[in-house]
Amino acid sequence: MPLEKADFTGTRATMLATLYGRALHSRSANPVLHDPYAEEAVRRIDHDFDSTGLRGDDALSIAIRGRAFDDLTAERLAANPDVTVLHLGCGLDSRGRRLDPPPSVEWYDVDFPEVIELRNRIYPGREHHHTIASSVTAPDLLRDVPADKPALVIAEGLTMYLEPAEGIALLRRITEHFPSGHLICDVHSPLAVRWAVVNRVVRAAKARLTWGVRSGAELERAVPGLLLDRQRTFFDLPGLDRLEPAYRTLVRALGKIPAFRDLALILSMHFDRTSPTR
Ligand SMILES: C[S@@+](CC[C@H](N)C(=O)[O-])C[C@H]1O[C@@H](n2cnc3c(N)ncnc32)[C@H](O)[C@@H]1O
Repeated sequence: MPLEKADFTGTRATMLATLYGRALHSRSANPVLHDPYAEEAVRRIDHDFDSTGLRGDDALSIAIRGRAFDDLTAERLAANPDVTVLHLGCGLDSRGRRLDPPPSVEWYDVDFPEVIELRNRIYPGREHHHTIASSVTAPDLLRDVPADKPALVIAEGLTMYLEPAEGIALLRRITEHFPSGHLICDVHSPLAVRWAVVNRVVRAAKARLTWGVRSGAELERAVPGLLLDRQRTFFDLPGLDRLEPAYRTLVRALGKIPAFRDLALILSMHFDRTSPTR
């Protein structure tokens, strides 16, 4: 089978780093996140993955975040398997395959057209799985997405790359389109967004972070009807004890400093336009 090209720069290129991180970590002994699809995708792509800037414990950190998102998604699908999943900024992430949801779930993987083109070549089609080749900020993003079921919206490693007004407009569009739903996303604080200029992976991709969010409460205020269920910092996620000792010490120390604790948050939120008490 001929190898696929992935000549991306900017935001689109960042998904090559997260893919590579999951593939590298998956090959390690007793991985936090087993992702054979990422391993296979990396084999299928003709790309110098070392140029992603990924080093040392980056792969483990990426796997820890991916595992947290998988667990939250699985939890939601167990609570209600009759949903429409919007997997926004999916890149080449294989969450829809790893979790193998029941046929009651309609799963939409969404990313820029060039990324979706590559994705469709790497991952064969599946029943109840769809792709949307569009910027998530396009006003007509949800035009062809039925609004007959609650939504489960997943956005891992996406929000920080959006302009604030565009990100808020996207969330408002979602809460206005679906009768109800849940959102699982990560956000970076304004400080983390400023610091991204020294992040190796972001620099290697020539990407730019643009949206800093301090807390779930900030999104509650910006998006009518969107309510916070749970907010976890990166420092709370299981698996950090497996970081190399020096990095682990640094991460633990940062996690104790109030200004740094909220650098990266994972938010679980919901909305329900059908509820009289909302
Ligand atoms: C850091 S990667 C994360 C990819 C994937 N979620 C993962 O964890 O591997 C960011 C992804 O967001 C996508 N992205 C950024 N801005 C976007 C936009 N406006 N519309 C669609 N996708 C976007 C990029 O193309 C890229 O695939």
